[in-house]
Amino acid sequence: MSDIGFPSVIVNFKVYSEVEGRKALTLAKICEKVAEESGANIVVCPPMLELSAVAASCSIPVFSQNVDPRKPGSGTGFTTPSSVAAAGCAGTLVNHSEHKQSVSDVGTCVSMSKDLGLCVCVCSDTAEGAKDLAAFHPHMIAVEPPELIGGDVSVTTANPKIVSDTVDTVHSVDKDVAVLCGAGVKNGRDVRTALDLGASGVLLASGVVKAKDPESVIRDLISLI
Ligand code: G3P
Repeated sequence: MSDIGFPSVIVNFKVYSEVEGRKALTLAKICEKVAEESGANIVVCPPMLELSAVAASCSIPVFSQNVDPRKPGSGTGFTTPSSVAAAGCAGTLVNHSEHKQSVSDVGTCVSMSKDLGLCVCVCSDTAEGAKDLAAFHPHMIAVEPPELIGGDVSVTTANPKIVSDTVDTVHSVDKDVAVLCGAGVKNGRDVRTALDLGASGVLLASGVVKAKDPESVIRDLISLI
């Protein structure tokens, strides 16, 4: 697995219009610049169609937003872990709340991805659900309450208990799984609170992708790490 340092800030570009086409690389290069200047661990998850282009031009880790539990071969429209590795990605998200998979498929995705040397961040909607997912021993689990995703109130303010509970639950199964949190994370204070609650980083999207000045937002996000 490529080295993903902690604390880490994972920026999920989702499929916002702001990052369609070449605009994904522009935002990824801003993340890279801040990471290089600050030493912060910033990971980017560009839209799937831009994975190769971003991975070829960026020195920071690039993650896919998803993989399907499929081997190379017939499987029109699926994203194989193998193709994500071949695109130059360092890792992948799995089971994002906006792209749910069955628990058994999550397990297959984790194992196929790990076999290929990919770092895997599995998303969970709840602390309880994270326990089952920890049994697959991904590198990271990110807890994100769906109702707070895309909103203005950070999970660290609205529901700090879900963060600390997920840390406890996941670490009761495997202490080596890093726990991240996300949903509504917007600034350095939110990131600091996440770390104080025991998380090893954050997963966020709209706060950066939809910002008028993404560079200043990213600088703020890492300012209290
Ligand atoms: O994957 C990150 C995510 O779902 C949180 O989104 O827009 O609330 O930062 P956002």
